[in-house]
Amino acid sequence: MCGIVGYIGKQEAYPILVKGLHRLEYRGYDSSGIALLNTAADLNIYKSKGRVADLETYCQGKDISGTIGIAHTRWATHGEPNHANAHPHYSQSEHIALIHNGIIENYVVLKESLKQKGYTFQSDTDTEVLVQLIEYIKTSDNVDISKAVQLALKQVIGAYAIALVEKGNPDLIIAARKSSPLVVGIGEDAFFLASDASPIIEYTKKVIYLDDEEIAIIHRNEQLKIISLGNIEKTPQITQLEMSLGALEKGGYAHFMLKEIFEQPRTLRDCMRGRINIDNNHIVLSGILDNKEKFLNARRILILACGTSWHAGLIGEYLFEEFCRIPVEVEYSSEFRYRHPVIYPDDVVIAISQSGETADTLAAIELAKKAGAFVYGICNVVGSSIPRNTDSGSYTHVGPEIGVASTKAFTAQVLVLIMMALCIGREKKTIPEKRFLQILSELDNIPNKIETILGLNDKIEDLSKIFTYAQNFIYLGRGYSYPVAIEGALKLKEISYIHAEGYPAAEMKHGPIALIDNEMPVVVIATNSTTYDKTISNIQEIKARKGRILAIVNKSDTKVRQMADYTIEIPETEECLDPLLSIIPLQLLSYHIAVKKGGDVDMPRNLAKSVTVE
Ligand code: M6R
Repeated sequence: MCGIVGYIGKQEAYPILVKGLHRLEYRGYDSSGIALLNTAADLNIYKSKGRVADLETYCQGKDISGTIGIAHTRWATHGEPNHANAHPHYSQSEHIALIHNGIIENYVVLKESLKQKGYTFQSDTDTEVLVQLIEYIKTSDNVDISKAVQLALKQVIGAYAIALVEKGNPDLIIAARKSSPLVVGIGEDAFFLASDASPIIEYTKKVIYLDDEEIAIIHRNEQLKIISLGNIEKTPQITQLEMSLGALEKGGYAHFMLKEIFEQPRTLRDCMRGRINIDNNHIVLSGILDNKEKFLNARRILILACGTSWHAGLIGEYLFEEFCRIPVEVEYSSEFRYRHPVIYPDDVVIAISQSGETADTLAAIELAKKAGAFVYGICNVVGSSIPRNTDSGSYTHVGPEIGVASTKAFTAQVLVLIMMALCIGREKKTIPEKRFLQILSELDNIPNKIETILGLNDKIEDLSKIFTYAQNFIYLGRGYSYPVAIEGALKLKEISYIHAEGYPAAEMKHGPIALIDNEMPVVVIATNSTTYDKTISNIQEIKARKGRILAIVNKSDTKVRQMADYTIEIPETEECLDPLLSIIPLQLLSYHIAVKKGGDVDMPRNLAKSVTVE
């Protein structure tokens, strides 16, 4: 997500701002920019698509002098990631430079009205609309810049954290927030500004967290002034930072993994934003629609991935076969690349990767491209190698996933696959419209249902205490729940170092049932599905051998709860969406077991976040 940094003081602003941008890189972004006011009162803006390092290269040889400036990392919402859409944005006269996090929902109306007044726009962003509005109000109402900001923000519907500087006003930064975080740091003869404290903490521990609808008037030689949108002056509440930089990045959670599990309602909303329109009954995945013929004429879909991303791919197999009637094969990238695979030019290959840098998946993509197949990427890290090496794709947009055990990336990968299958199925007319609309409408409920499951965290933590003794675990599921079972097992082994196996429940009797005794915990996903009754039979087989059953069930369940030793109740949903819910208690269970066993949850032994060697 976007990041804001600002500085006003006695030192050169540029190095402080660039360092701050680097500190915010973990948030995820696709372009960056900086605005500096120098002693000649020039307002210089430099922007670059890509990494902060690209911005630094771009700034080489340019005038980067000045002791006041603002800087930004942008995570695209309105308009593609490019130079024009990167922040800061100039006003029409190029006298004001503004950076912004958030979304201005009524920007279209505001933009139209400004256009009618003769304003022209250089970008597709909502941010440029705001800076133009501020300038328009300043000129037309003949008010100073802080008043203009206040009046403009009163017209804005949506979320924002903003900072701006004005040409000819080298002693002033104005900042404001609503629903997007903004922190002001109070230093020795200096003020700092940032989206979170990570760029500030090495300069000062004294910070002020702005509240919603507050405007900070940060003047070089004066006390910080905070006014509300309603023009009430506020007394700044200074907070002493006590947390370390690392803890701040965890947002108060004990581990990144727990934070990332809890982020999932938001990350799934982010992943759907701009793609699903419930009111118009539309799914718009531009990567699919721009290449519609490839998908409609696909002889086969080949899904290539590793680890958790491969598990998401297995769910994709169920989805594409059910809704698009296209045969699907899901392959481990590492096996596929060395197997002399048969690849047809009319195959569509879907490569799934959180990091976008997994070496085996990159190599498998090259193989598929050489054979003439169309390659579509599902990735999280913007600008990483896989999106750059595929013909088209969709980002998952969950922000940086720092915990090695993938959680929020998995659910977003599954969500992208769901949206793809629905989009293609509708175009192919292989999904009845009524069914499409039912699933679409239920997708909208998923984030809230995940919130409900997260509310069971304490119960799941209690349950985890029962299982810390275990040396082995079995996870069972059928249909859409089978990939969830193997993903649940992977989560447990990665961070708790307990041996865990995931199986399709019906496979038990073909061998693994020999492992069952009264010591063996068996986690069964037994939510409502077309195979619910079959799963009950499988549970009975385990029960007869005294296995200890922990079942994931729905509220309406009456049968499984009578057989299971323990149950976790999750909300009901469409069968194809159930993985988005049933994985959540399994993530929490493995997290709590690992914590109890004293493992390094975020950086488990022998594992790396991005596997760049084969
Ligand atoms: O970045 P990728 O999605 O390509 O990574 C694939 C696997 O390395 C990854 O999913 C790994 O299995 C995770 N540690 C799972 O939690």
